[in-house]
Amino acid sequence: MFKIAIIPGDGIGIDVTKEAVKVLEVFRDKRGTPIELNFFDYGAEKYLATGISMPDEQIEEFKQKYHAIFIGALGDPRIPDMAHARDILLGTRFKLDLFVNYRPVRLIDPKLCPLKDKTIEDVNFVVFRENTEGMYVGVGGHLKKYTDEEVAIQTSVNTYKGLERTIRHAFEFAKEQGLKEVTMSDKSNALRFEGDLWQRIFESVGKEYPDIGSRHLFIDALVMQLVKRPEQFQVIVTSNMFGDIVTDLGGQLQGGLGIAASGNLSPGQVSMFEPVHGSAPKYAGKNIANPIAAILSVQLLLEYLGFNEEGKLIESAVSTAIVSDKTTRDLGGNLGTKEVGDFICEQISKNL
Ligand SMILES: NC(=O)c1ccc[n+]([C@@H]2O[C@H](COP(=O)([O-])OP(=O)(O)OC[C@H]3O[C@@H](n4cnc5c(N)ncnc54)[C@H](O)[C@@H]3O)[C@@H](O)[C@H]2O)c1
Repeated sequence: MFKIAIIPGDGIGIDVTKEAVKVLEVFRDKRGTPIELNFFDYGAEKYLATGISMPDEQIEEFKQKYHAIFIGALGDPRIPDMAHARDILLGTRFKLDLFVNYRPVRLIDPKLCPLKDKTIEDVNFVVFRENTEGMYVGVGGHLKKYTDEEVAIQTSVNTYKGLERTIRHAFEFAKEQGLKEVTMSDKSNALRFEGDLWQRIFESVGKEYPDIGSRHLFIDALVMQLVKRPEQFQVIVTSNMFGDIVTDLGGQLQGGLGIAASGNLSPGQVSMFEPVHGSAPKYAGKNIANPIAAILSVQLLLEYLGFNEEGKLIESAVSTAIVSDKTTRDLGGNLGTKEVGDFICEQISKNL
């Protein structure tokens, strides 16, 4: 039995999680997929009422007893510094050592792509973003704060271990999927020290995979090429900061935040899956949010646990929904969150 922790979170996170859970329940109840769903109310309401964001004991329980975690989204205007969201999201990422962020970018229908004349084959790549280091470690500080002599320092931390395992994961993925090339992107012409480490590790790991091509592009060249000819990419591996930017660009190429899914992985250990979008408070509770990003995150979760058939059934049901405009407003349809979830569940049930 695979134990899955569900954290709906805040705002539309709660709305889209309901639909993602419905999909999991279809598999559990109608197909007998061996999953157990357990719900946790971490989020703004709990934090405001009790001051609790994400206790260390909870992280430990996830580590010891769970196989996967699903998070809806976090963020609430009543907590402007995002303290609870930082603890929950970054706490989970860092304390569970979820060192690689997995972001497939797959165009499901050409009508969703903002680039002209692109087919679904043209926009089909995966980004692996280093997820626990770089500029996001919070090393730095201010000197002479609030004076006109103020200095702000933000340090990028890059470890051999952190880069090696992320780059290796990208090559392993390419090997498993029968893909031909991995592109590493950095800014080693300007950020020489971290760039030098990225370059050396990419070269040495790449040599262990002689059947897979290694390509390097500076990050500025990569973003240009992604817009010009996305069809040249299969697997991209990059740092935390550049990955953050590139994956949002990728999200738009596939049709926007409403369908962008992600996994935060510690391969072989409990890992966390979440839609890329935030809590969009203005849409919360209004049956407007697109649940597809959450449902595709469930696809990644199930595939991570080895349920590839279930993954294919989700992929096909989502494609049917998009192609036949059974979608929410952001994708041009006129259905609500719940109705899109119902449609996708019906399609899956029909094909079981
Ligand atoms: N991983 C996360 O939980 C996460 C990620 C990003 C932002 N946030 C937080 O979410 C809150 C809102 O942030 P934001 O407005 O910058 O980003 P957001 O992703 O919540 O929303 C931005 C806009 O994108 C559209 N959108 C997003 N998700 C959608 C969906 N499922 N269906 C339809 N449209 C969708 C909406 O137009 C929305 O106004 C903030 O508190 C922010 O810090 C959380």
